Amino acid sequence: MVIKNASYLISSPTWQKCPAPDRPEYAFIGRSNVGKSSLINMLCQRQSLAKTSATPGKTQMINHFAIESSQKEKGPKFNWYLVDLPGYGYAKVAQKSRKAWSKMIEEYISGRQNLMHLFVLIDARHKPQAIDLEFVMALGHWQIPFTLVYTKSDKEKPGVVKRNVELFLEELKTSWQFLPQVIVTSATKKAGRDEVLELIDSLNDQ
Ligand code: GTP
Ligand code: MG
Repeated sequence: MVIKNASYLISSPTWQKCPAPDRPEYAFIGRSNVGKSSLINMLCQRQSLAKTSATPGKTQMINHFAIESSQKEKGPKFNWYLVDLPGYGYAKVAQKSRKAWSKMIEEYISGRQNLMHLFVLIDARHKPQAIDLEFVMALGHWQIPFTLVYTKSDKEKPGVVKRNVELFLEELKTSWQFLPQVIVTSATKKAGRDEVLELIDSLNDQ
């Protein structure tokens, strides 16, 4: 897939306020500071399309980006949305805002008709974290297809990343028969870009 154009569209507080669901949509979610905005910028090859920050909790709204892509350099263009969602698990966030986050995300995931696939980002440096496992388990109830995207793989040895992935999948195996697909990425090294875009391309085709 070739990204022809990527532009920030709008930030919405609820799914009802999001742009008209007139094209396929792919959303990125994960722990606060996991690297969602950085990954979006890497995918679109734009340095500051999505705002990144060393301070967790930067992304608070449902942020839509309008993407125009084509399968080959020259070919028909296709429009889709890419969405940067606010992160979970930021310790300094008050209980009340956590509840508001859960409500917003749950409603967005279950209500947004054009949401094709969710990319759940996990920090490649860590062993399975309860908060990520809890979120992924909850996705089982919402019945939305998703892929696990490991981030910041440049910060850890490949063997350790592989082990962290295996441990996470083992945890899921205790309750699930089918395991999600995993893509290992690094925004700084631009790793995993083709895999994520190919997956989106194949879903856009359906
Ligand atoms: P919130 O919007 O606050 O939830 O954060 P986020 O998940 O959007 O994370 P963001 O992209 O802002 O990145 C957080 C920090 O991690 C920044 O300092 C990034 O530069 C850094 N970072 C993100 N991805 C990578 C990566 O692949 N490798 C390395 N080394 N650093 C990364
Ligand atoms: Mg962000």
